[in-house]
Amino acid sequence: MAARGQAFGIDIGGSGVKGGLVDLATGDLVHERIKIPTPQPSTPNAVAETVAKLVAQAAWDGPVGITLPSVVIDGTVRTAANIDKNWIGTDARNLFSEALGGREVTVLNDADAAGLAEDRYGAAKELTGLVVLLTFGTGIGSAVMYHGTLVPNTELGHMEVGGMEAEHRAAASIKDRDDLTYEQWAAEVSKVLVTIENLFWPNVFVAGGGISRDYREWIPLLTNRTPVVAADLKNSAGIVGAAMAVSAGIAP
Ligand code: BGC
Repeated sequence: MAARGQAFGIDIGGSGVKGGLVDLATGDLVHERIKIPTPQPSTPNAVAETVAKLVAQAAWDGPVGITLPSVVIDGTVRTAANIDKNWIGTDARNLFSEALGGREVTVLNDADAAGLAEDRYGAAKELTGLVVLLTFGTGIGSAVMYHGTLVPNTELGHMEVGGMEAEHRAAASIKDRDDLTYEQWAAEVSKVLVTIENLFWPNVFVAGGGISRDYREWIPLLTNRTPVVAADLKNSAGIVGAAMAVSAGIAP
């Protein structure tokens, strides 16, 4: 059962379903994270089975916070840009709760979870004002936070930049697909950041996603005006944010 101050988080991505028990005092994982490959196709039922397997493997019987790469409103999935389209309209909170024997579940957007985690424990913990976190991966996710309060379900990766969706221009997957150099890719990221900063005027951007590990290669090449800092929690941010959300009863 839950030790005080601990919560379980699961981050569902295109390639892996990752989870772990989080110490909410520090934002650290209590044990090594568990990773199971995302079933293909990643239909709701197949993913729910994987989630149940992961929680059983961790021998966890308390509440669970879960992220999806989707807009999630009141437990229901509204978009599915980079996962199986059958998710749209699915009551994910109900689905996961049933797969986990009826226990309490919170479901939220993956970038929102990362934003909550970076804001409390990571790169944004000392930062004030308006913080915009962007995750660069298969798509671009966003979390907008003002003095620690999250505005859920912003989808800045789908903002139009120069006649193209931001994530089609500057996701990390585009760098790989088109074999771009960091210089070429950073020029595209800069265009996205300039569009966002002209509309939102954030105090700072936090850059997350796997490619933020190599931030020294590309953050110095950005030409937008707002400072950009690299995310701190790297591949555990989604897990930690999901755990925070379920423990705080945040259900966007
Ligand atoms: C989705 C977002 C998600 C992001 C990162 C986008 O394509 O629309 O909801 O946060 O990818 O996974």
